Amino acid sequence: MSVICDRATTHDLSGAIRALLPSLERFVRFEGPDPARSRSQWQPALDGALPVTGVGRDAVLAELASLVVANGLRTGHPGFSGWVTTMPTDVGIAADLAQAIAVPQRWWATAGNFVDDLAMRWLIALLGFPASFAGTFTAGGSTANLIGLGAARQHAGERLGLHPSRDGNDGFVEPRVYCSTETHHVVGRSLGVLGLGRRSLREVPLDRHGTIDLDRLQAALDEDAAAGRTQVAVVACAGDVNLGRVDPIAELARIARERGIWLHVDGAYGGWGVLDERVRERFGDVATYDSFAIDPHKWLAAPVGTGAAIVRDAGVLARAFEVETGAYDRERQVPVGTGDTGSPFDELGLGTPDFGVDFSAPARGLAVWAILREIGSSGVQERIVRHNDCARRIADRARSVDTLQLLAEPVLSICCFRYRPVGWTDDVRLDALNEAILHGIRARGRTVTSSTKVGGRFAIRPCFINPRSTLADADALVDEVLAVGKDLATAG
Ligand SMILES: Cc1ncc(COP(=O)(O)O)c(C=O)c1O
Repeated sequence: MSVICDRATTHDLSGAIRALLPSLERFVRFEGPDPARSRSQWQPALDGALPVTGVGRDAVLAELASLVVANGLRTGHPGFSGWVTTMPTDVGIAADLAQAIAVPQRWWATAGNFVDDLAMRWLIALLGFPASFAGTFTAGGSTANLIGLGAARQHAGERLGLHPSRDGNDGFVEPRVYCSTETHHVVGRSLGVLGLGRRSLREVPLDRHGTIDLDRLQAALDEDAAAGRTQVAVVACAGDVNLGRVDPIAELARIARERGIWLHVDGAYGGWGVLDERVRERFGDVATYDSFAIDPHKWLAAPVGTGAAIVRDAGVLARAFEVETGAYDRERQVPVGTGDTGSPFDELGLGTPDFGVDFSAPARGLAVWAILREIGSSGVQERIVRHNDCARRIADRARSVDTLQLLAEPVLSICCFRYRPVGWTDDVRLDALNEAILHGIRARGRTVTSSTKVGGRFAIRPCFINPRSTLADADALVDEVLAVGKDLATAG
């Protein structure tokens, strides 16, 4: 007699969601102490061997609720301002669920795939790019940078009469990509993946403004041009993760254009800053960018796994990521239809184009569409301005309280500061104190933030992108630092 082992349920979605919902609702109320700290309580319960016989749906849902959700990461707590990450808002979460169920593939002619494409056009419009620009949703900023730089490599190769995505990088002479020392390390990894090698990155020091030194960049470009090296791209940083500084992009665009080099802009975090008129100028004219990486899963609070790459020339991008179509998916060669067909499976052309490294992929733009439809461009703009205000509020308080020190003037929504008891001057001692404060405030649970180094000094570094955070949360963070700092300084 055969025993049925595949007991995967497919008939009671409502029951499954109902079973999980109370724990999710409890989680998003963020009440009480953060349970995720008590690792010893959940890890042993989860760390089992692969089951031969499954436990069945209800037991899985119970474990999800009581062990996974209950011990989740509270990046959506209004007092969370750490790193560059947050939790999605309601419609983004709902869209993710809808996508998993009804838009399981980015191919074919479904409403979800149409909306995925529409979301990209809205994003292009929101950020001020000309409508002729094209883009693709990606798994995040890392992949978005990879895609932008993949297009840059293709462009550089084609200038030499090569086709690098097809033939590889033979013919490139000691390729070089230029960026500042503050550029995110995933840019280097992209170059590794693209076969150019991380060592092709020529990192240019910062100037006195803390952004790429243009004179030294020009010198590096001249030197490499004279040596006959293949100059693949200039990478501008539109919001570095440490301080949120934006390179002088208008200047970089001019330099790159004059030399015929591709300009890639990494705005994974800070690209949204173009929506704040007070800092808009720093981004130059977005129409001059050749490629741009931005993360809807950061400031737009789309579900994690939602990045975007936008390019001026869709043709280069398509050639950079083209594939030879196999017999089994020859239907992908069918041109985009215009009218109704007998079946959505007869027409492939509505979703994200084949512009990246994924083949099967979710319609990531569905959540972006839902968020933009819910709050509109003015809602996004208001969020960016509010969060930049949060950083400015902290800076104002750091300037006005004698036990605080502002370590860097905020540009976007990051503010670096430290607690400095009156009379303390030893940086080593101050570093240790501020590190203890960082952990002390996390332990209290009202606010959680992260740190960095500014000029070698330990800095408390909030980064406001959390849609649930307001000026009151910026004030609460400062109050926490003052309270914990006072206690620790008095004790030590
Ligand atoms: C400037 C910048 N570039 C790239 C990345 C990488 O993006 P992701 O984590 O979405 O892959 C980040 C992440 O914080 C970033 O801030």
